[in-house]
Amino acid sequence: MAAGLYPYFLPLTGHEGTTVTLGDQELVMCGSNNYLGLTSDPRVKKAAAEALDLYGTSCTGSRFLNGNLALHDLLEAELADFYGKPAAAVFSTGYQANLGVISALAGRHDMVFADSDAHASIVDGSVLSGAKLRRFRHNDADALGRRLAAAPEGAGRLVVVDGVYSMEGDLCALPELVATSRRYGARIVVDDAHGLGVLDGGRGTTSYFGLTDQVDLITVTFSKSLASLGGAVVGSEEVVHFLKHHARSLIFSASATPASAAAALAALRILRAEPWRAERAQENADYIRRGLARLGVSSGASSTPVVPLRTRGVVETLLLWRRLVDRGVYTNPVLPPAASPRLRLSFMATHTTDHLDRVLEALAAEADMFLGADEPDGSDETAGLAELAAGPALASAPHRS
Ligand SMILES: Cc1ncc(COP(=O)(O)O)c(C=O)c1O
Repeated sequence: MAAGLYPYFLPLTGHEGTTVTLGDQELVMCGSNNYLGLTSDPRVKKAAAEALDLYGTSCTGSRFLNGNLALHDLLEAELADFYGKPAAAVFSTGYQANLGVISALAGRHDMVFADSDAHASIVDGSVLSGAKLRRFRHNDADALGRRLAAAPEGAGRLVVVDGVYSMEGDLCALPELVATSRRYGARIVVDDAHGLGVLDGGRGTTSYFGLTDQVDLITVTFSKSLASLGGAVVGSEEVVHFLKHHARSLIFSASATPASAAAALAALRILRAEPWRAERAQENADYIRRGLARLGVSSGASSTPVVPLRTRGVVETLLLWRRLVDRGVYTNPVLPPAASPRLRLSFMATHTTDHLDRVLEALAAEADMFLGADEPDGSDETAGLAELAAGPALASAPHRS
């Protein structure tokens, strides 16, 4: 910490938009999931303020009992309509949505098959379910097929994948994974936390592939494109009804606050009315990817507003993070075991060309520190942890500003 290299729990001041204030410094924000730039949109803020006035600060209970507002029901109806699915259930976070859905649907005689890069909430939901969890190689439908083929006769089979992978910014191989799931009689859930609002004019990953009707359930979060806090699942009337009566993370936790539900609803309406936002977020990330290619820096398999910049190790990641802060750019450092060392950058519809050029200028000054476009990601994630634990390396590392 004394070396100024501890990058977590930093107290940001001021609202989170395209720039953010850290201490007395204004930084271009490249670490936010506010893909559509709606957290500071006057319409979203007004909706939240009106709900606060009307319903107060909290529902003080579960949706199951006293914590259900007409607003939650309306949000469910509009989410279901948006996806063209019969029903939706709103949870208090996206994490709780995945936890509740998986643990309610799978039991100890069942099997859950999750992509090796799937979000932590999918893994945690699977563990909570008591089902056997089998991970398969990232986006590898053949590997999934082999795992499904080996499942015992009579075991329920639930395949769970992310629509867009949050650390790499790549898409899931949905057509192949859906076909394989169907072949083995498995149900498939897509967590579209990072696809909603971004792909296909905002309609998400399943719509991008034209497969919304082939996917059994879609889970989403409100904490990214929808500029709020909360989560949901959409699917058939029957399954959603079951989940509302069996998902423990919904039943035993207070409902999303009135302001959160109203903000998500307002953002959903804007997302539908203004598809240019999704396109602009993508164009902005494309602009950065083209700039990185000119610099010879790898942007991995990213094809969405999430752009990972691979580094050579834990210490290098922290150094780079600090140097970019000093150059006026906020990024998110990601370390093992979350993923191999990298800076995770993400871009918003509301970043201007001036913001993006400032980012590229900062990256150009450090370009030789990132893995090049032709360098494989050979990092050893456990070695990274050992390096971090060694500590003194951080303190003695040179700090260029
Ligand atoms: C893929 C994915 N799923 C679920 C979540 C959880 O969402 P929430 O922040 O609403 O709990 C996240 C957030 O980090 C995510 O990236």
